[in-house]
Amino acid sequence: MTKISFILNGDRVETWVKEHEMLLEVLRSNFNLKGTREGCGMGECGACTVLVDGKSINSCLFPILEIDGKIVETIEALNDKGEFHPLQQSFLDHGASQCGFCTPGMIMSAKAFIDDYPATPESATPEEVTEAEIKQALAGNLCRCTGYFQIIEAVKAVLKEQA
Ligand code: FES
Ligand code: FES
Repeated sequence: MTKISFILNGDRVETWVKEHEMLLEVLRSNFNLKGTREGCGMGECGACTVLVDGKSINSCLFPILEIDGKIVETIEALNDKGEFHPLQQSFLDHGASQCGFCTPGMIMSAKAFIDDYPATPESATPEEVTEAEIKQALAGNLCRCTGYFQIIEAVKAVLKEQA
C-alpha cells in the first residue's frame, strides 16, 4: 500500500491505495463518491469521467499513483452548496438526462469544454461554437437514451448564458 495526497473537490486529502488501483476505484471505495459511474471499465463509454488538473479523463484507466499532488474534481463538486451548477440545471431544463447513467460523466466533459472556452481555438464567441465542436468535446461520452440532441442543446444554452 502507498499513501498519496491530492486535492479532491477543493479539499486536500490523503489516502492509502494499492499500487495497481485506478482513480475510479479509489473515488468510489475510499471516498464513497458514487456519482462517478463505472460503465465499461475500458475507456470506451466515458461514464467514469472526472477532471484532473482541469482536463477530462477516464478515471477507470487513470493509475492512482499518478494522482499524487494533482487536483481532482468529480460531479459531487458541482453542487456542494446545495445548488445546481448551470450545466446540471440546463441538462434538467432540456431533458438531457433520462436514465442518468451517463450524465455525471457527460457533465464533467462539458464542464472541461466550457471552462476552457474561449481558449477553444476554433471559435471566438459562444455564438460561433458549432455543434461539431460540442460533439467533439463530448465524443468520449456515450449515451444510450437521449440521441444526444438534448445534451448538445443543454451545453449550447450554458455557453450562451455565459456570453
Ligand atoms: S467506465 Fe471508464 S470509460 Fe467506461
Ligand atoms: S441518459 Fe441514459 S445513458 Fe445517457
